[in-house]
Amino acid sequence: MTIDFYWRLPTHGCHGSLRQSAYDRGDWSPLAAHNIAPGLDRNDADDGYRYIDHLAEIAKAAESVGFIGGLIPSFPNTDDPWVISPLLARETKSFRFMIAFQPGFLNPVHAARMAASLQRATGGRTVFNIITGGGGPGQLWWGDGFSHDDRYGRTTEFLDVFKGVWKGEGFSYDGRFFQVENGGLSPLLAAEEVPEIWFSGSSDAALQSAAKHADYYLSWLEPFDQLADKFARVKERTAALGGEQKCAVRVDLVARATEEEAWRDIRLGFENVSEERRKQGRGGPTDSVGAARQQALKPSEARRYDELIVGPNLWGGFNLLRGGPALGIVGSYEQCAARLDDLIAGGADAFILAGTPHLEEAYRVGEEVLPLLGRRAEALLQAAE
Ligand SMILES: Cc1cc2nc3c(=O)[nH]c(=O)nc-3n(C[C@H](O)[C@H](O)[C@H](O)COP(=O)(O)O)c2cc1C
Repeated sequence: MTIDFYWRLPTHGCHGSLRQSAYDRGDWSPLAAHNIAPGLDRNDADDGYRYIDHLAEIAKAAESVGFIGGLIPSFPNTDDPWVISPLLARETKSFRFMIAFQPGFLNPVHAARMAASLQRATGGRTVFNIITGGGGPGQLWWGDGFSHDDRYGRTTEFLDVFKGVWKGEGFSYDGRFFQVENGGLSPLLAAEEVPEIWFSGSSDAALQSAAKHADYYLSWLEPFDQLADKFARVKERTAALGGEQKCAVRVDLVARATEEEAWRDIRLGFENVSEERRKQGRGGPTDSVGAARQQALKPSEARRYDELIVGPNLWGGFNLLRGGPALGIVGSYEQCAARLDDLIAGGADAFILAGTPHLEEAYRVGEEVLPLLGRRAEALLQAAE
């Protein structure tokens, strides 16, 4: 079976190094000498190189080393993935764009038409990461006051309609959140492939919705046994409905030539975490089951980086070094590949990988780690012992 690898396109900004939280690539900083996007011209003025140009470099790098596509996250502080993807599609050849979005905020018929147009324009390179939001103030920012399970009810209806209108004309739907009468995409648009649907969320409501609509059930990394258990439950639930569920993991890596080098980068990064960042690392109020599972690791309370080693090559403090989930993989190239193989053995059918800085790490992971997959890394590790 082919395992698809995606890379993350950091619409939330990109640090130049995991070791120094203050140094980013320019998009969020005042114009300064080391900035990349924008950088300085010979008169010390903005050189016109936009952050989208930097994202295009990352997409092109990831495409060139074998990633099939890129995840484009969606948060209040990011650019909009629907806008970013067609711009980047013009800069790449076959790279797919995984648009993260909360379906409740869009009309599903309009979303289907936009997606079909994108499919037509890009030769079918659109993929979705369906997210349903983490509740709390973050949800109210979008003007969304629905409860956790209602949001998933709305997501399910959205996907019912999205797929329904794609079947062609004469589609009607009378749901709690969405209604359509005699709708359907025009034959030209309906002839396009429905985008692959990746689906995020760890709650029961999420798993239920995923079983109906997801091509890939997507999870952040969790301790391997826990994740294998979750994937087995998801696969069982979909099998009971007569379908087959593929599963995927979204995970950051620090892969270096040696394990010592990898942990040294983590230690330096951890030692540079400010008190303010540590407080942010505790995470805000949320009704997200997945986020609560990550917060339970309590990275913000650790005083030494090695208190957060929670398994072989598994570190639980990534959220202190950058926003996002806590757990990630740290080790030599062979060890990182062996851990990805372990995840495949535990039910993962695809991955979204990430590393900081995203441009350089796309090359490194693509060139040094991916070629070792398929248990080749295990053989190399044993030979070195
Ligand atoms: C792999 C992954 C990626 C996610 N990406 C985003 C994102 O880009 N934007 C966002 O607002 N939420 C994102 N989320 C959180 C989702 O909104 C998720 O549906 C929410 O945490 C509710 O989760 P629950 O079902 O675990 O309670 C992501 C979650 C996962 C697992």
